[in-house]
Parts: sequence; structure tokens; C-alpha cells
Amino acid sequence: MSLRQFILARAVLRTLSALKHSIVYSWDEAARILGLQEDLYTNPLHHELERPVNVILIGAGHRGSIYADYATKSPREMRVVGVADPNPKRRARIAAVHGIPPERCFSDWKGVFEPGPGHEGHWADAVIIATPDRLHTAPCLRALELGYDVLLEKPAAPTEAECRQILAAAQASGRIVGVCHVLRYTPYFRELKALIDAGMVGQIISVQHLEPIEHVHMSHSYVRGNWRKSDSATPIILAKSCHDTDILRWLVDSPASEVHCYGNLKWFKEANAPEGSTARCTDGCRVEPECPYSALQIYYRDRKRLYVFDLPEDESKWGPIIMQGLNTTDYGRCVYRMDNDQPDHLTANILFANGVTAGFSMEAFVSYEGRRTRIMGSMGDIVGDMESFTLTSFKDGKRRSWSMKTDAHGGGDHRMVKDWVQAVGQQNPALLSSPIEVSMESHLIAYAAEKSRLQRTIETVHL
Ligand SMILES: NC(=O)c1ccc[n+]([C@@H]2O[C@H](COP(=O)([O-])OP(=O)(O)OC[C@H]3O[C@@H](n4cnc5c(N)ncnc54)[C@H](O)[C@@H]3O)[C@@H](O)[C@H]2O)c1
Repeated sequence: MSLRQFILARAVLRTLSALKHSIVYSWDEAARILGLQEDLYTNPLHHELERPVNVILIGAGHRGSIYADYATKSPREMRVVGVADPNPKRRARIAAVHGIPPERCFSDWKGVFEPGPGHEGHWADAVIIATPDRLHTAPCLRALELGYDVLLEKPAAPTEAECRQILAAAQASGRIVGVCHVLRYTPYFRELKALIDAGMVGQIISVQHLEPIEHVHMSHSYVRGNWRKSDSATPIILAKSCHDTDILRWLVDSPASEVHCYGNLKWFKEANAPEGSTARCTDGCRVEPECPYSALQIYYRDRKRLYVFDLPEDESKWGPIIMQGLNTTDYGRCVYRMDNDQPDHLTANILFANGVTAGFSMEAFVSYEGRRTRIMGSMGDIVGDMESFTLTSFKDGKRRSWSMKTDAHGGGDHRMVKDWVQAVGQQNPALLSSPIEVSMESHLIAYAAEKSRLQRTIETVHL
């Protein structure tokens, strides 16, 4: 029996929690004693598939490549048989890694669905849609129309109307649409959810949740990057924080009824440009050596966040290519002189139908990443930081802690792909924690929060 099965057996857990605390060890200790460390999170519903699920990747950028990598790790479960991306380097990379013939490589998502030699009719089981935010709805609707199952990047769609259209199409077609709410698949949040569902903190009364974006990450994606304008991407509460509205909804286990949001762009604007700064960091900016957002420092010297430059394998060629990128792309521009409009700080209050309240903050100006969550329950509380948490019971005063080191996404990316592949392979949507029917709610909270922020209103969330 895995620890996951063990924890999910609520009756067992409730009995255990009622036993004297001398018997109830911390989760780590219990797992170690039971020898369960190796298979903590195996899902008993996963089966060996008769054949791999054949998938077409639409959008071969950062996220798409991570999802496609699952096929190299688990070739018996998933195969990437086609790719669409206007960027020839990205297309070629995916084609080379997955052995995709040229007739199944497309420069636009539409090509995937137009019959031609080598791609007639229904030529795969499913599509992964990892295109930019404003390019999700059309390929998703087309894929559903033609009978493909879908893995859809979040945010599912930029507007409530489009999101509802996707939901309706998924329901009408009977196809599976999984939304990439990867946090749900992380051991950390799964563990929190299991403990809460098992009644370990009694009833949840309220939650405080912090999303620390980290200041350089903010500058990269939401000041210089493709998500810097809410009308060409999506509002940041949707683009970044629909993960958080989803996690809150999931943990609280009740629909949201009202939301209120404040937030604005306070720092990354021209009024704050230091004297001596220039349009580009490479233009002889006088403050570049001490600027935390120096593109020369981040990309050229520290060699961080380089995927946007589409670098070749040969690292000896990187220097001039990065420098050219700093001279010609948005990634070399001064963070104070962009055309960005996304808030760099934001707070939202959510009232759930069961009376639970949640306070959420999205913050750019922090030195760390990793969501921080405090759960206040009638019989205990939980304080966690996405790597570890401590549960304190009010009944016995005993503290129990859990910890696990993972990657920046909490280890959720491939766990999510695995559940989706299994759902498609077995044609069983119940294997997914984030089908569109469920993910929809996080989006509705986010749309309402953005409306509240812009109009200074308290919004009702209509499901
Ligand atoms: N689930 C998460 O945690 C998470 C994290 C980051 C981003 N995202 C979301 O994932 C999506 C992709 O983000 P990304 O970081 O991979 O961006 P990206 O820019 O690296 O990738 C997007 C890719 O789509 C391609 N594309 C553009 N137009 C296309 C078209 N007509 N047909 C096919 N491909 C097209 C682009 O060339 C690019 O390669 C976005 O919606 C983003 O908000 C999700």
C-alpha cells in the first residue's frame, strides 16, 4: 500500500489521529517506518496502457516542450506524432527529439486539422495546446469538433464567454479536456488536500495564500516578456494566479460566491527609471552594474531564463546570440521603459459559499518563489511553503511536519501529464483532477477579481 492510499483512507486516518500522539508519528517518520518513501504518490487507477497515446503538440515553446518531454521519459505511455509552431527552431527541435516526419510538422495550428499526405483524417488520439494565452480557444474548439482529447494550457481562455464555449464544446463532444493546473498534481498540495479532507484541521475557517513571483521572474515574464500587457496576453490574475484561485477553491471545497480585488502597477514604469538609465541595458546605462534587472547580468553573465533565445546545443555559440537578443528583442529593454500594464502587486479577498474566507496576495517584490499557505481550521492549523508544511493539532498540541524537495512547479508538470495520458488511454476523465468542468471555477474567480480591480466593486462569482 502506498502512503497515498494510506492517507486517502480517511477512516483509517481519522482513527489514527484519534489515537494517542505517541502512536502518531510525523508523516516523514511514518513513511520511513512503513518503507513507503519510494512510492508515495502512485495512483492505483493507473494501468499499463495497451499502446502509447499519440499526441500532437500545438505550441512548441517552453511549456509545450516540458509536456512533450514526458514522451521521452515514458515512451510506452505517450508518443508525440506531430508538432505545430511558427518558430522553425522550436518545430525542428521537437521533430528531431520525437522523430516526427516533415509532413507532420506545421507552422500554424490550423495545419494540424487540415487533411494532407501523412495526416489524413483523425491521425492522433489527442492534442496538447500550449500556444500563447489568446490562442487557446480556436485550436481547442477545432480539436473537440474533430474528436480529439485535449490537454489545454491555462488560462483556458482570456474571457468568460470563451471559457464557457470550451466547456460546452467539451461536454457536447464527450471528449476529455484537461487544464494544466499543475499545482494540483504536486505532492505538496495533494498532501495538504488529503489532510484537510481527512478532517485533520477540523473545518477550514479561513486561508491566507501568498504567491511570491520573485522580482526577476516578474521582470522577465510580466514586464519584458510576452505576458506584460493584459490585452495581448491575459490579466495577471488569470495568466499567473488562476493556479492560486484553483488551489484555494480545491482546498476549501466550496464554490466561491464573492470576490474583491485591489492591485496596480507601482514600480515598473518610466517615472521610476533611475537617472542615467537608457532604453536598453546595452546602451551604456550608467546604473546597469547595480540594477537588479540588468539584462546583461540576468541573461548574459548569469545565463538565466535563456529559453526565450532559442539557443543551439553548442554552448560556445551562446554569447553572441544572447548579446544580439539583448540588442534586438524586448529582453534587452529597460524594465522602466516598457509598455507593460500588469499589476506588480495585487490582493484579492474571496468569500466561499460555505463561509470560508481567503486572502490572496500576488507579489513581485520578493527574493523567493514558492507559494506560502496558512490554513486556519477549527481544530488545527497548517503553515506551508510548497516544500514543507507543519500541521498543529489543537486537540493535542502536537506538531506534524511534511517536506519534499521538488522543482519550481512542485513536481507537478509530469505528474499532471501522466494523469492526463492515463485518462486519455483509459478514456476515463475521472483520472484527472483538473478537467475543464472543474478548472472553469478558478477562471470565473479570476475574471470576477479582475473586474473588481478595474471597477472597484465587489463581484459575485456566477457559476
Ligand atoms: N501551467 C503553467 O504552470 C504555465 C506556466 C507558464 C505558462 N503557461 C501558459 O502556457 C502557454 C504557453 O506558454 P509558454 O511559456 O510555453 O510560451 P512560449 O512563448 O514559450 O510558447 C508558446 C509557443 O506557441 C507558439 N505559437 C504561436 N502562435 C502559434 C500558432 N499559430 N500555432 C502554433 N503555435 C503557435 C509560439 O511560437 C511559441 O513557441 C501560455 O498560455 C502560458 O500562459 C502555463
